[in-house]
Amino acid sequence: MEGEKKRVVLVTGASSGLGKEFAIAFARQGSYRVVLAARRTHLLESVCEEIGHHDARSVELDVSANEKFIDAAVDRAWNCFGGVDVLINNAGIRGNSSISFSLSFENMKRPVKSPLELDEDDWNKTFNTNTRGTWLVSKAVARRMVAAKKPGSIINISSTASSGGLLPGGIAYASSKAAINRLTQSMALELGKFKIRVNAIAAGIFRSEITDSLLDKAWVHDAAAKIVPLLRFGQVSPDLTSLVLMLASEEHSSYITGQIYHVDGGHTLPGIRLWSSL
Ligand SMILES: NC(=O)c1ccc[n+]([C@@H]2O[C@H](COP(=O)([O-])OP(=O)(O)OC[C@H]3O[C@@H](n4cnc5c(N)ncnc54)[C@H](OP(=O)(O)O)[C@@H]3O)[C@@H](O)[C@H]2O)c1
Repeated sequence: MEGEKKRVVLVTGASSGLGKEFAIAFARQGSYRVVLAARRTHLLESVCEEIGHHDARSVELDVSANEKFIDAAVDRAWNCFGGVDVLINNAGIRGNSSISFSLSFENMKRPVKSPLELDEDDWNKTFNTNTRGTWLVSKAVARRMVAAKKPGSIINISSTASSGGLLPGGIAYASSKAAINRLTQSMALELGKFKIRVNAIAAGIFRSEITDSLLDKAWVHDAAAKIVPLLRFGQVSPDLTSLVLMLASEEHSSYITGQIYHVDGGHTLPGIRLWSSL
């Protein structure tokens, strides 16, 4: 991309897991500079080091903060490379859903809370981070894109919990991700006239730092073979990064907006598992 201006992507929740891999995938693609945002800035800095500071910058951003703080952090992100062309709203928490209980050894002691046990603070924390955060970061970035008369792509990281694949304890998480799907469609409807496209990816089960050790276990592969039509859980790169890169690209997806893509190896397809002669 010598001589050509690189596009800029802002990735929230880029300090670990999916967000970190998205940031690295964009940098490796060669035509992007990356602004990495999250709360743990020392982790962001080490990813910037890995990518190289010429093409990567870090910005402290707590997506659950109030609008004034979010707007100020987005302003810093915007000014890192003089604009943002692509926003990946990836920052998210699982709250008390059983996926975090069963997949993360760190979280083993965290209780799975039913709708009758979950407290208001847990609910608010999950919604403030996953849903309100996605809206406010999008708002701050999209307002600047509109003012700069720049086309843009916003990609929201949803979950298969938003529309299938429910787990006990997931009331706040699943509802917050379902809200992200409708937020995606509503923003796509209203931002199209500014050439800002908004899409979401409802991800199945993927390797991230917190799922790594579990997904290495043999019995997990046996389980995947029984419940996932493609017989395995996902690898962030390339299973997710290929779609993220496609949706970011004006060349490859300029007429795609308001879509929710399920990337789950087909695991949300089966209904009740009964033999059928139909
Ligand atoms: N892994 C999967 O199988 C899977 C499946 C479906 C959907 N997802 C979604 O993918 C996204 C990433 O998940 P992951 O599995 O990669 O988990 P992860 O490794 O725990 O990463 C979560 C990221 O979100 C950031 N974050 C959390 N709260 C934040 C806040 N208030 N402000 C800013 N950043 C915040 C964290 O950074 P800091 O702590 O440094 O702020 C971290 O970088 C989430 O939205 C999750 O719901 C994941």
